[in-house]
Amino acid sequence: MGVHHKLSAEQPSTSEFQPTSTIVDIHTHTYPPSYIDLLASRDTVPYIHRPSDGSDPRLIILSSDDDPSKPVEKRGRPVDVSYSSWDEKLKFMRQHNISTSVVSLANPWLDFLPSHTALGTAQQINNELNTACESQNAKQDSTQRLYAFASLPLSAKPDEIVSEIQRLSSLKYIKGIILGTSGLGSGLDDPAMDPLWSALEETSIMIFLHPHYGLPDAAFGGPDVIGRSGHVLPLALGFPLETTIAVTRMYLSGVFDNFPKLMMLLAHSGGALPFLAGRIQSCVEHEREFVANGGSKQGPKRDVWDVLRTNIWLDAVIYGKAGLKGAIEAAGPNGIDRLMFGTDHPFFPPLREEVDGKWTSVQSNLAAIGGIGVSQESVQKILSRNAARVLNLEL
Ligand code: URA
Ligand code: ZN
Repeated sequence: MGVHHKLSAEQPSTSEFQPTSTIVDIHTHTYPPSYIDLLASRDTVPYIHRPSDGSDPRLIILSSDDDPSKPVEKRGRPVDVSYSSWDEKLKFMRQHNISTSVVSLANPWLDFLPSHTALGTAQQINNELNTACESQNAKQDSTQRLYAFASLPLSAKPDEIVSEIQRLSSLKYIKGIILGTSGLGSGLDDPAMDPLWSALEETSIMIFLHPHYGLPDAAFGGPDVIGRSGHVLPLALGFPLETTIAVTRMYLSGVFDNFPKLMMLLAHSGGALPFLAGRIQSCVEHEREFVANGGSKQGPKRDVWDVLRTNIWLDAVIYGKAGLKGAIEAAGPNGIDRLMFGTDHPFFPPLREEVDGKWTSVQSNLAAIGGIGVSQESVQKILSRNAARVLNLEL
């Protein structure tokens, strides 16, 4: 028995809930070796530093990681083999009874590439992911299945980005795309995104919206305050608020009015969106500037609850019962059909030895799902059936 993390009163003990049937993980990342090499060839964020003493390379991808007061070998996070190895991914899946994973490139995807290399790199990495899934799924002696979310070459020319979206339907194991919040550089409410939304809507490709940029350091009191608590402020608050702001900007600018069939899966249960949806709706209804209230600015035509129950799905990566219940409630009358289990592997690895090799981060998500008092059938929907149905996975 290893050391067990203390769980808060909010959480049931992780041992109380041990799912017995299939689990599908839709929030799980990788950095293919070619992408690791790409990051290691750089010395500005995002980059990987390979120390000369042979210790684990350091992943310096968040702006707050690049703290000049620290030596480079202490910046960011160690990046071990679990970030790039398929064997490690499959081992992690076995340890947690996960039969099927939909793997995505981790942040910051291809956002930082120069325009002229973006399309070629995207094609290469998307092909690499599809091929890795194909060879795993062809193994007769394994029941573990892999699928992937592709990445878009967002710094390429708009018609090149659209061509990559269209090409994805020829890659059998690609089940959607992962997308950050910067869009073409001006956010997801930029009208220049319209050709992308149109192509994504036409091809019915699920968009997995994932944070990377967080909030400006000043929102947290500046680098000194952030420095006192490592990654806690950027990851616990910056990430989910970034997602919340991005999707709310899309909503306010009418993206969901103009592209009503868009399908978006929001990371980390939508950040604060489930909690704030009522307030967003109320502020929209009370905004004098909007046409619906006698003003001159268009404002959104649909109500936020309608968007939540038709365009949005949420992962169940929220680590607590209160957040999970709120996410299900906000997702509408059939909210239980719109949540999908995820792990965020290989991020949040255990910092101490764990029971049976199980990660605390994963166990707390499972404990929340098992602890909210829904039927066994509903648990199974969140753990596997919703993902299988919505993403069309063969389990
Ligand atoms: N940290 C990251 O940089 N990305 C994740 O997806 C999770 C934690
Ligand atoms: Zn993630």
